[in-house]
Amino acid sequence: MAAVVFLALILGFSAVSAVTNITTDEHALLSLKAPITGWSSSVTHVCNWTGVLCNRHERVAALNLSNMGLLGTITSDIGNLSFLVSLDLSNNSFSGGIPKEMAHLRRIKDIHPNFYDFRGPLPG
Ligand SMILES: *[C@@H]1O[C@H](CO)[C@@H](O)[C@H](O)[C@H]1NC(C)=O
Ligand SMILES: *[C@@H]1O[C@H](CO)[C@@H](O)[C@H](O)[C@H]1NC(C)=O
Ligand SMILES: *[C@@H]1O[C@H](CO)[C@@H](O)[C@H](O)[C@H]1NC(C)=O
Ligand SMILES: *[C@@H]1O[C@H](CO)[C@@H](O)[C@H](O)[C@H]1NC(C)=O
Ligand SMILES: *[C@@H]1O[C@H](CO)[C@@H](O)[C@H](O)[C@H]1NC(C)=O
Repeated sequence: MAAVVFLALILGFSAVSAVTNITTDEHALLSLKAPITGWSSSVTHVCNWTGVLCNRHERVAALNLSNMGLLGTITSDIGNLSFLVSLDLSNNSFSGGIPKEMAHLRRIKDIHPNFYDFRGPLPG
């Protein structure tokens, strides 16, 4: 029992102490963007992408892709945006449902209700 608790503490600690920065968010956003059609971005810095808002620590805090007429799927990469607080994907044509990795987003407070505007089943 003690060993299990100890192991949990070690695993918990190593997960929390993993070093992440805007490069982590950039990789996640680039992967997220890949299967989406219509999300154009000519600027290089992810904090300046359409629909992306960074916090003062230069981490992606809000993603608002609403009303952009986007097609495609939301991939599990969204679960790597660990500083995400607000997500609005409403009024697009996403398919394939919501990745279960969304559960990794511990800071999220504001998910637009129309996030569930997906064509496809909700994850079980
Ligand atoms: C983010 O961290 C990685 C490794 O920890 C480092 O190589 C990279 O330069 C950092 N990026 C920024 C923008 O600080
Ligand atoms: C997301 O995080 C996981 C676990 O840290 C990592 O294996 C994966 O490569 C990351 N994905 C991206 C797109 O950075
Ligand atoms: C974002 O764009 C603005 C205006 O073009 C620019 O002044 C700013 O430096 C850019 N921010 C980053 C982080 O690249
Ligand atoms: C996202 O942007 C739209 C405008 O394009 C705005 O009406 C909506 O309130 C925003 N969503 C959030 C969660 O801020
Ligand atoms: C949905 O997005 C389209 C653009 O893709 C826009 O023309 C339309 O007005 C939006 N609908 C609502 C209810 O905001």
